[in-house]
Amino acid sequence: PTTIAKPPLTIRLCQPRGFCAGVDRAIQIVVLALKKYGAPVYVRHEIVHNRYVVEGLQNLGAVFIEELHEIPAEHRECPVVFSAHGVPKSVPADAEARNLFYLDATCPLVSKVHKQAMRHQRLGRHVLLIGHAGHPEVIGTMGQLPEGAVTLIESEADALTFMPADPTALGFVTQTTLSVEDTAGIIRTLQKRFPDLQASAAESICYATTNRQEAVKETAHGADLFLVVGAPNSSNSRRLVEVAERAGARMSLLVQRASEIPWERIGAIATLGLSAGASAPEIIVDEIIDAFRARFDVSVELAITATETADFPVMRVLRDVELTAA
Ligand code: F3S
Repeated sequence: PTTIAKPPLTIRLCQPRGFCAGVDRAIQIVVLALKKYGAPVYVRHEIVHNRYVVEGLQNLGAVFIEELHEIPAEHRECPVVFSAHGVPKSVPADAEARNLFYLDATCPLVSKVHKQAMRHQRLGRHVLLIGHAGHPEVIGTMGQLPEGAVTLIESEADALTFMPADPTALGFVTQTTLSVEDTAGIIRTLQKRFPDLQASAAESICYATTNRQEAVKETAHGADLFLVVGAPNSSNSRRLVEVAERAGARMSLLVQRASEIPWERIGAIATLGLSAGASAPEIIVDEIIDAFRARFDVSVELAITATETADFPVMRVLRDVELTAA
């Protein structure tokens, strides 16, 4: 029988992509806690915004909860892990009041933003947090300071209408996973209105966000389709879809698994850009490349824009487990 030749497809694979050091550490913390203390290990909120990761950890014995009161009294001895996004100060305080043993998997780069927000306040500044309402990281950062000490700025419109009590005493921090370009625009608007506005000592948008956006920007131009592997509630993944669109990809989509690829919408394509958000495992990138291989004659081009070496160690109580782990 004659086989019909598959159409050629070039996949431009972004590097860096996928897991960042903070996500890697958070997952390790849950795995090591399970090894050291046995199941169940409670995890407050999705440890990272990825269903595949969450289900994998559930299979190992992790139990996901939204609030600490969901931990049954007979399991009070079991560890509870706080997610990589960070938590308001009220959460560890509540854990202590309930006599719970907690392991805080907040990414060190999120903790750094918390410290910068506290520093602004210590210096007598009202804090502006640039970020998205409702995201757990924003809830966590706002919750480092007393109510009323932080104002959330979500957009240019907010930056234009915000009315401070004292326009000379303002400092800002941002969510770590924002669009580098949009955030720069919002900061410019704020600085124009409030020339005394103080930046924090270190950039809030993290290295992983910056590098992934940069790689997408470099590769998206002229791509017939750009796919970002990530979850709909993952802020950094959604920003990558926007960056690809802006950089000139004809179509740009977020998918969680290969099964979500809308083949009928895609039609005939010759170039595909591919990246993954900081919470997306590499195995799903492989799965997606395989799905394209089944339909196209694929050649993969690696588009390297940066090399990453960040590696965040887990907390001390889990380090002995790591050393003895197979
Ligand atoms: Fe941390 Fe940035 Fe990842 S803040 S969790 S390194 S996306």
